[in-house]
Amino acid sequence: MAGTPPLRLEATDELLSRGERHDAWMATFTQGLDFDTFTCGTYPRFAAKASGSRLWDPDGNEYIDYILGYGTVLLGHADSRVLDAVTRELASGTCTSPLWRPVQVELSQLLTSVLPNADLVYLMRTGSDATAAAVRLARLHTGRKKVLQWGYHGWHEWSTPRPEGLLPAVRRETLTFEYNDLPAVRAAFEQYGDDIACVIMMPFETDAPEPGFLHEVRRTAHAHGALFVLDELRSGFRMALGGAQEYFGVDADLVTVGKGMSNGHALSAIAGREDVMRGLSRTHMESTFFTNSAEMAAALATTTVVRDTDALRHVWRMGERLLEGFRALIAELDVPVRAVGYAPMPFLEFTDPDLDRRAVGREAFFRAVVCRGVFFEPDHHWFISAAHTEDDIDRTLEACREGFLTLLKAAGA
Ligand SMILES: Cc1ncc(COP(=O)(O)O)c(C=O)c1O
Repeated sequence: MAGTPPLRLEATDELLSRGERHDAWMATFTQGLDFDTFTCGTYPRFAAKASGSRLWDPDGNEYIDYILGYGTVLLGHADSRVLDAVTRELASGTCTSPLWRPVQVELSQLLTSVLPNADLVYLMRTGSDATAAAVRLARLHTGRKKVLQWGYHGWHEWSTPRPEGLLPAVRRETLTFEYNDLPAVRAAFEQYGDDIACVIMMPFETDAPEPGFLHEVRRTAHAHGALFVLDELRSGFRMALGGAQEYFGVDADLVTVGKGMSNGHALSAIAGREDVMRGLSRTHMESTFFTNSAEMAAALATTTVVRDTDALRHVWRMGERLLEGFRALIAELDVPVRAVGYAPMPFLEFTDPDLDRRAVGREAFFRAVVCRGVFFEPDHHWFISAAHTEDDIDRTLEACREGFLTLLKAAGA
């Protein structure tokens, strides 16, 4: 691409060609997926190191990271406060399953104190674990089969976006609706109300909820005897210490969290109403690694920092600086792009009504910015960490200025 200095990716390409012979995902990840610009030969595929707001690929290229392990990294990569806690815990052995570790009590106590409506908490490993658990507990509580969902909740059978390899009988029990479409939620309840166990939804993605939307979905669910579950894997701990429940002032029966809770360490949790959570006694939902303590030490350290410092205020400030910078550039250069999302999770939407021109311009933009050391994913909103600095944001905006100019040139404007 003219004007875009190419990245050197020789070490990356060598790793990928070897990995493709042994690793099933590397061997198949380009097949049947629509990752477009993310895999088009411009983007790094490996991270050799990550620290603070930065990561480095095996070729030594440095990037300001706005993906942050899909939002898991809240304080910054390899934050020393978290690292110290994890190292201490690892030194005393981390897996003593089935015995619980003292840190599990400390963390559960902390989480029930900072998460709204969390009478009890159950610690698991992945986000998919927590959302599958929420659905299971809702079914147990209500004796109903169906789930009404919006957003991404993981790879498990009931929710994964792709239907291949799944049992149609399971998929039939999952209903969906469009965000902010209250009539669709009401219609689903009118048709299947007696058999819907819960609504499970992300509180938002890039669009804000219409005034009252979340509260009205909750009210409708309750009016039909269903539970209201918020999937806060992304918004938890990042929008506010108490997540979207606190930010929007909406109460969930169950909430699923993880990601930002443990700054990149694999831990998730489901929390909520005691009567629902006690359903655990009526089902098998255990796993050998659920008692591993190093990740719990990470979550204890991360959540304590988030509670006791201005880390989140900083995340918001940096996100606002980025969004304002985007808006100023978009207006100045008159590019068909819209800056969207809340400050901790900003994003750019490409809006050229000519779809071919939009695709060409969008790809040119992302190629230009990644080559200037800014790691955005084109198909997923971005995240801000407490380690991002004003300088990171300003450099990002400089790269985006070049990106927008490249877009205009590529799109023939
Ligand atoms: C909102 C939400 N829920 C659930 C999940 C699934 O989490 P995991 O990938 O850890 O299984 C994700 C992961 O991106 C998510 O963003």
